[in-house]
Amino acid sequence: MSASYEVHGPVAVITLNNPPVNGLGHATRLAVAQGLDQAQADASIVAVVITGAGKAFSGGADIKEFGSPKALAEPNLLSLISAIEQCSKPVVAAIHSVCMGGGLELALGCHYRLVSPGTQVALPEVKLGLIPGAGGTQRLPRALGVETALNMIVSGEPVKSELLAAAPGQKLFDKLVDGELLPAALAFAQDVAAVRPLPLVRNLKASHDNPDGYFQFARNTVKAMAKHFPAPAKCVDAVEASVKRKFDDGMVLEREIFTALMFTPECKALRHAFFAERAASKISDVPDSTPVRPIAKLAVIGAGTMGGGIAMNFLNAGLPVVMLEMKQEALDRGVATIRKNYESQVKKGKLSADKYEQRMALLSTTLSYDAIGDADMVIEAVFEDMAVKKSVFQELDRVMKPGAILASNTSTLDVNAIAQFTQRPQDVIGTHFFSPANVMKLLEVVRGAATAPDVLATVMQLGKKIRKTCVVSGVCDGFIGNRMIEQYSRQAGFLLEEGCTPAQVDKAVEKFGFAMGPFRMGDLAGNDVGWYIRKRRYQEKPNLRYSKTADLLCEMGRFGQKTQAGWYDYQTGKRDAIPSPVVEQMIVDYRKEMGIAPRKISDEEIVHRLVYSLVNEAAHLLEEGIAQRASDVDMVYLTGYGFPLFRGGPMCYADTVGLYNVVQTMKRFAANPHDDANFWQPAPLLAKLVAEGKSFS
Ligand code: NAI
Repeated sequence: MSASYEVHGPVAVITLNNPPVNGLGHATRLAVAQGLDQAQADASIVAVVITGAGKAFSGGADIKEFGSPKALAEPNLLSLISAIEQCSKPVVAAIHSVCMGGGLELALGCHYRLVSPGTQVALPEVKLGLIPGAGGTQRLPRALGVETALNMIVSGEPVKSELLAAAPGQKLFDKLVDGELLPAALAFAQDVAAVRPLPLVRNLKASHDNPDGYFQFARNTVKAMAKHFPAPAKCVDAVEASVKRKFDDGMVLEREIFTALMFTPECKALRHAFFAERAASKISDVPDSTPVRPIAKLAVIGAGTMGGGIAMNFLNAGLPVVMLEMKQEALDRGVATIRKNYESQVKKGKLSADKYEQRMALLSTTLSYDAIGDADMVIEAVFEDMAVKKSVFQELDRVMKPGAILASNTSTLDVNAIAQFTQRPQDVIGTHFFSPANVMKLLEVVRGAATAPDVLATVMQLGKKIRKTCVVSGVCDGFIGNRMIEQYSRQAGFLLEEGCTPAQVDKAVEKFGFAMGPFRMGDLAGNDVGWYIRKRRYQEKPNLRYSKTADLLCEMGRFGQKTQAGWYDYQTGKRDAIPSPVVEQMIVDYRKEMGIAPRKISDEEIVHRLVYSLVNEAAHLLEEGIAQRASDVDMVYLTGYGFPLFRGGPMCYADTVGLYNVVQTMKRFAANPHDDANFWQPAPLLAKLVAEGKSFS
């Protein structure tokens, strides 16, 4: 069913019914239009109520129809809203729970609107790189006033109905209904049955005391806030038209802007990310119906940098956590860090004192494995050393109750080998959090060869509960994100050898939109981490070429911000990266030793070498089945590595450039005598896609 039609005495009730949020797909729009016809044809009907079944009035467009011809099929949303406005009998929207996007635009076309308190009201189109496209930019300012409407349209954020209903002079809601909505709407509909002419939002006037000054101010503010995205500034243009143009002319402008934005790379990137996020939670051989194990209590082993942050995620979600360490001092230090973190949130007004106490009360500590056996899941975050992991997992195998999930936060070690330290490899999984673990959105869920489907399903669900973006990775060295970043770091090193300074590389990448370039990132994370990994990894692969500059840096004790010296110099208490003459000299000397004459390298070459190194490695990961889909790789990079959202992730970016062009550029790089020619051998999947004229998506 998409919408139902019922008669309540002299009033017809059309109920949107398209779970989960009554998206306005074609079938639903058609059913509403038919309901309107039926009501007008029936002489015993004096008015119409439109409402929504279940947990929403309407969440807006039906995302299943996005980009398909069905989205535009008649009656499209514009025609439907027009039909509502022209209905010969009053149409009353009875709004509750969620009223967003097209749902709000539809309601704005109704003659009257009643709303329940607590309803989330929004025009979120800007979050997909668009502006509202069915009259929202013209009607909302008329109903709500220009400033409130523009704030909502530019931010896309929901506002509670009771706040909007209380605004002086607002005409969005005719009534805030505290009790039962439908009976109130039926009574209201009968009260207004005889009113003619029927009120229309389009006939109201949107005005402002100082429109020129206000819109200029709005434009400046928006420009500063959303520098990489065109849509917010276009919201200002459209809303300005609601004040300065006739309604129908404003509608024409809205349509022109909407259509033009649809084809921008930024809009494509945002829509890609929106769908990628949803796709990431799907696992092809683990259906949504897979049963999950109840997780009511957690244990965390290791109260260091990661253990503390991991524990906070669960405390925030209201789940009790017991933390285990080898020594009391380590526990005390870990708990103190968690306290400090929460206290700073309380100071900033982000957390109430009550909530802080509630969260801390959920945390307990122990030195004994026997005290954690009843936890439903345990996450290990001890030193990155296989021997230590072995002893921990053997202990866990001994004490944990049957069916408990045993997770490792290892960033580089073999999860399959870890699973074999236990008698229950089916219960073992990797949960690779990113630092700071209580802040970063990304959680790589590492599926071992033996991991049971219900363990995987449980961890994916738990990840959602703690508000992470979960991406499944197979077992390999570095999983998805770090295996790719290794190639990126190798290229960054070659760029130094060939003539760049760290600052030049970082600036080019930051101009492209990355939150941070590779060298500033190294200084933040600690250059020693990569150093230890390289020592292990490159011993295993002696023929793999990489620049030794990063090793030389560590040999100088320059580990990054924590030693106040890394690729850059740092002043006490500050995080500003100051170019270091010592490091630049080290690089010059190294070049001499290698016999490389430096050359000037363009920002474009820097960016392409770094980004295409990610893309090519990801193509290998897809082929090996480590990553399930290209859009998962994009989610990893958008949520864990600061890849610019407006570019949609490395794979989306490569698709936008065109894979043919990507490979042509890689061939040029392969001819560079100082780069590693093997490095630029296109992954077979990439070569195949180019040969077939296809893209990753
Ligand atoms: P850390 O050195 O800050 O903390 C490790 C803690 O484990 C220490 O407090 C130590 O006392 C405790 N510990 C060591 N052996 C133990 C044992 N046998 N039993 C109980 N406690 C023990 O290390 P960090 O950075 O928190 O890393 C932990 C794990 O997380 C490692 O596997 C690391 O590779 C991984 N990881 C680290 C990331 C990072 O950015 N630091 C990011 C993602 C994963």
